[in-house]
Amino acid sequence: MIRDTVRWAATHGLMRAAIRRQARRGNDDAALLLDPELQGDPFAHYESLRRHRPFAPGAFSRVTVHHGVCTEVLRSEDFGVADRDGSMPAPVRLALRVAGPPAHPGPIDPPSMLAVDAPDHARYRRLVTRAFTAKRVAALRGRTEEIAEELLDTLDDGSGPVDLVARYASLLPVTVISEMLGVPTSMREQFLAWGDGAAASLDLGLPRERWASVQTNVAALHDWMTGHLRRLRARPGDDLLSSLVTTADDDGSHLTERELVATALLVLAAGFETTVNLIGNGTRLLLDHPDQRDRLAADPSLWANAVDEVLRVESPVSRTARSAKRDTVVAGQEVPAGSLVVTVLAAANRDPDVFADPDAFDVGRSNARDHVAFSNGVHYCLGAALARMEGEVALRALFERYPGLAAAGEPVRRPTRILRGYEHLPVVTGRRSLTV
Ligand code: HEM
Repeated sequence: MIRDTVRWAATHGLMRAAIRRQARRGNDDAALLLDPELQGDPFAHYESLRRHRPFAPGAFSRVTVHHGVCTEVLRSEDFGVADRDGSMPAPVRLALRVAGPPAHPGPIDPPSMLAVDAPDHARYRRLVTRAFTAKRVAALRGRTEEIAEELLDTLDDGSGPVDLVARYASLLPVTVISEMLGVPTSMREQFLAWGDGAAASLDLGLPRERWASVQTNVAALHDWMTGHLRRLRARPGDDLLSSLVTTADDDGSHLTERELVATALLVLAAGFETTVNLIGNGTRLLLDHPDQRDRLAADPSLWANAVDEVLRVESPVSRTARSAKRDTVVAGQEVPAGSLVVTVLAAANRDPDVFADPDAFDVGRSNARDHVAFSNGVHYCLGAALARMEGEVALRALFERYPGLAAAGEPVRRPTRILRGYEHLPVVTGRRSLTV
């Protein structure tokens, strides 16, 4: 309990205070981090940051919204994963050392793949890469189409508006990743509840109660995965997690229990916590742009490109960060060792130097795929091919089954800052009730 309080105070508590202080001094990025309304529509704000090149001053970092600068930082060997604890003042670092590592590390705490550099990063990633190649993903398309059809069969019971997020956008990816990993699909509602409760673990400066609730959900996921891997070790099956357990034991990777659980958990949670936003954001964009829907109906070969355009215009992961490992230079500007650089992926994806008329949603855009919604460099999204396939199958099946789909009330955004998507998206299918 005391350790938890120290850990919260040293990271989120102090960070929250620092962000508030910076916002009072007129720092634009700090203002964004504190203002949910601005987060709902941050794009004009991003344009004000774009005046600073290559970096705008962040709350406690350098911030870039430029596509070229983001790419340069993310690909550079002079940068490593964001060392948030290391960038704290000395007394805070001491407090963190006293508190020790978190009992249940989250997705951006080591030993998560997202939070470590080489050589550990390659050691973890190698174990799961094979399951996510374009070829393996292509083989899952048929089953994903079946899952989409099954969910659409029960979407409309004729009783009125339905929440597209609860009934479709969240269920499709969690079912696919559960089947891939060999975890019971009967657990999918429980995973979604835990995942939803843990999603803010990516955000900074959380209030104490919110942080405590995130920790509870992260711990629940951990405990479940630890037990599941123990069961698989005793009786392995023919699934990805069984092969993770046995390969990690046999091939000299020497993953500790902590590393194994973190790797399995990241793949499971990343598999459904992000794609739900792609499907929700895509649905909303298409509801708002009937002309683009018409183009897709007339030429279904555009669907794959439409998914990249959704990822570009409404990026599900708004930002990520890196720390300079040594003194370096980015876009001609010196960046001292230890500096934190925030790359705003969602803003880079609307960079007018790369994308003509960047705010326009154009499913036929020729360079839509040049977005950085999946990041870049060594941490490039492991599940990019899977997410693209799921997004294409889900959106196409939805709009082909229900050409009259329409919004039925105000959507509600998720309260997370890094993950951008909808918590609720009420729709009517446009199909006449079965009971009529
Ligand atoms: C639309 C959906 C998705 C988006 C927008 C997305 C975005 C991202 C981004 C931006 C990163 C890198 C973060 C950084 O550079 O710091 C990342 C990494 C990762 N993603 Fe995804 N992702 C999506 C879906 C998936 C899926 C379906 C999986 C399946 C398992 C997945 C697994 C991972 C993993 C394991 C990493 C860590 C890679 C590494 O550190 O080497 N993602 N994702």
